[in-house]
Amino acid sequence: MKALKGRDFLSVASLDSSELQELLDLAIEMKAGKVKPRCEKVLGLVFYKASTRTRVSFSTAMYQMGGQVIDLNPSVSQVSRGEPLSDTARVLDRYLDVLAVRTFAQKDIEAFAHYAKIPTINALTDREHPCQALADLMTVKESFGQTKDLTLTYVGDGNNVAHSLLIGCAMVGMNVRVATPAEYQPDADIVEQAKAIAGGRSEVLVSNDPAAAAKGAHALYTDVWASMGQEEEARTRIPLFQPYQLNEELLKFADGDAIVLHCLPAHRGEEITDGVIEGSQSRVWDQAENRMHAQKALLASVLGAL
Ligand code: CP
Ligand code: NVA
Repeated sequence: MKALKGRDFLSVASLDSSELQELLDLAIEMKAGKVKPRCEKVLGLVFYKASTRTRVSFSTAMYQMGGQVIDLNPSVSQVSRGEPLSDTARVLDRYLDVLAVRTFAQKDIEAFAHYAKIPTINALTDREHPCQALADLMTVKESFGQTKDLTLTYVGDGNNVAHSLLIGCAMVGMNVRVATPAEYQPDADIVEQAKAIAGGRSEVLVSNDPAAAAKGAHALYTDVWASMGQEEEARTRIPLFQPYQLNEELLKFADGDAIVLHCLPAHRGEEITDGVIEGSQSRVWDQAENRMHAQKALLASVLGAL
């Protein structure tokens, strides 16, 4: 993955299809202990939103390679006191080797990437969660040995996670179906982007019919109905999203060997039932573990440590 050295990762589409497949394979090899990268570099985490998995998996990946991590929580740094993003990014660029940023607007992470010459990684924005998609696709590849000729169905909110899955599935040749309430469909330009990538070779379908979308699917996926920053709407959204719950009834429409995925944190009884997330088809713990392997592969690649 020498081609990724020095590159930003702001969207799944920051890679091309073959780079994405190569990165997934590298992550699988790293998980098996076949590739052990070493790099004594420093990662900075600038997270404007809460995180458990992303923060810990990035940190552990870096430590396992021999690197260091500085957690620049905005509440203990100057970034929450009005220092311009452009100044922060240019200063961090002088200390760090790579930056992972979790923020709200995609334009803010693009600004970080513009002002910091070191690689900038999107650790979640309102528009995309590309590191999550790496782990999700890795989990599919690990479960089925391939990504082609498979169908992933996402039910729920057409949010950042859905956006990255639409693009990522299209890039690896998987059929992707997203079923949401009409008011909460994924952004039209993301759907168009996924369709352009798929180029008619695989399906990209957006609908309001969860049962039809789940029919024959090999992976069923959901995420919270209200994302970070939308907490005030959480209660009013529940009745609207109820038909899109990933429950035992919906699972019956999927392929018999289908796997169940959720990026976590989950709200049991809302977007997913306890029975399904704890059931035999659930791969959510492998999926969470894979965040670390996928991000280690990404870090090693952009840092040129391979
Ligand atoms: N899935 C995910 O990104 O989890 P965190 O918000 O805990 O990082
Ligand atoms: N869609 C969720 C994902 C959390 C990992 C959010 O943005 O809050």
